[in-house]
Amino acid sequence: MRVPFVITVDGPAASGKGTIASRLAREYDLPMLDSGLLYRAAGVLAGRAGVDLDDGEAVARVARGIQVEHLGDPEFRTRGAGEAASRVAVHTPVRLALRDLQLAFARRPGGAVLDGRDQGTVICPEAPAKLYVTASPEVRAERRWKQLQAQGEAVTYDEILADIARRDARDGGRADSPMRPAEDAVLLDTSGMTIEQAADAARRIVEAARARWENSR
Ligand code: CDP
Repeated sequence: MRVPFVITVDGPAASGKGTIASRLAREYDLPMLDSGLLYRAAGVLAGRAGVDLDDGEAVARVARGIQVEHLGDPEFRTRGAGEAASRVAVHTPVRLALRDLQLAFARRPGGAVLDGRDQGTVICPEAPAKLYVTASPEVRAERRWKQLQAQGEAVTYDEILADIARRDARDGGRADSPMRPAEDAVLLDTSGMTIEQAADAARRIVEAARARWENSR
């Protein structure tokens, strides 16, 4: 039996992976899971409940109540939520608490697009199409700064550049599911690209993977 057609899109903050993943989901008519939102929800909801973000077991108890259908809270998209997400994401109990719903999504018979840090390495290593989307820290900081300004957050470019460096170090340096490309992921550096160019490049990579997948029955 052929595995479902799953596309994993991993990479660091503001690399363009979210936009690329949404476009691929639309083009291939696949449901998409933004796994970062799960960690953002865990961080924000734990904070609201007065839970210490460094207490992995306590945050995991909050994380167990999260459902993919309830990720629409605009606070999950804020700068503070990104920081809280990366802090709670280092804890193994939190990652385990969020694992089953990610696995269920990845195993949908019709396929899916999974956006995150460990989708191609840990959640769905069997995915037929894997992308690892990167860009230079400066380009990513510029993109994230514009995005947060549009959301009305008062923050400087330098603060965002520092956020990105801290988050890259924490996400890449943690022991459980560190951010890294899967061995069979195709690397896409979007530094010098517009979003249209990046989306086109991603589509070409996925088309090649799809052709291989179709021939694999
Ligand atoms: O949008 P951005 O890339 O800034 O962040 P995100 O994808 O929403 O992820 C927020 C944080 O959640 C990341 O910095 C990671 O620490 C964590 N995360 C993770 O550990 N594993 C995932 N699959 C997705 C996110």
